[in-house]
Amino acid sequence: TERTLSIIKPDATSRNLTGKINAKFEEAGLRIVAQKRIQLSKEQAGEFYKVHAERPFYGELCEFMASGPVVVQVLEGESAITKNREVMGATNPADADEGTIRAEFAESVGENSVHGSDAPETAAEEIAFFFSGLEIVG
Ligand code: GTP
Ligand code: MG
Repeated sequence: TERTLSIIKPDATSRNLTGKINAKFEEAGLRIVAQKRIQLSKEQAGEFYKVHAERPFYGELCEFMASGPVVVQVLEGESAITKNREVMGATNPADADEGTIRAEFAESVGENSVHGSDAPETAAEEIAFFFSGLEIVG
């Protein structure tokens, strides 16, 4: 089994969609083994998304991620990284497959409801960014 970091973004928490999104994870066989609701500062959002620092949307992305509460979580399961990205759907909701979280809930390419780690190395880094080992109970 594998673990991945997931974030339910401010556009989704503000529309009260945390439970519906968690249901999608659980229906796909992903277990929520850690979860907390927090609000990031712009600086923390910038640190988390530093790989995108040179992208034109970086400022907007950091501002958005700090604009309201997020729910950060660790999902566990068989091929959890890939499986979570399947459940999330394409970055742009207009391209996301039917039934995915982004197809159902996302508002735009920027306000796209969820984040998921994209590889084992980034998953390990991103989990450690938010959680200590004691907070993850498999
Ligand atoms: P994450 O799981 O959030 O990393 O999404 P992703 O891997 O599908 O997309 P990517 O890593 O390429 O981009 C990270 C995030 O930046 C996206 O989820 C969007 O929130 C945001 N983003 C990407 N492209 C754009 C864009 O063209 N405009 C804006 N405003 N935001 C964008
Ligand atoms: Mg990404």
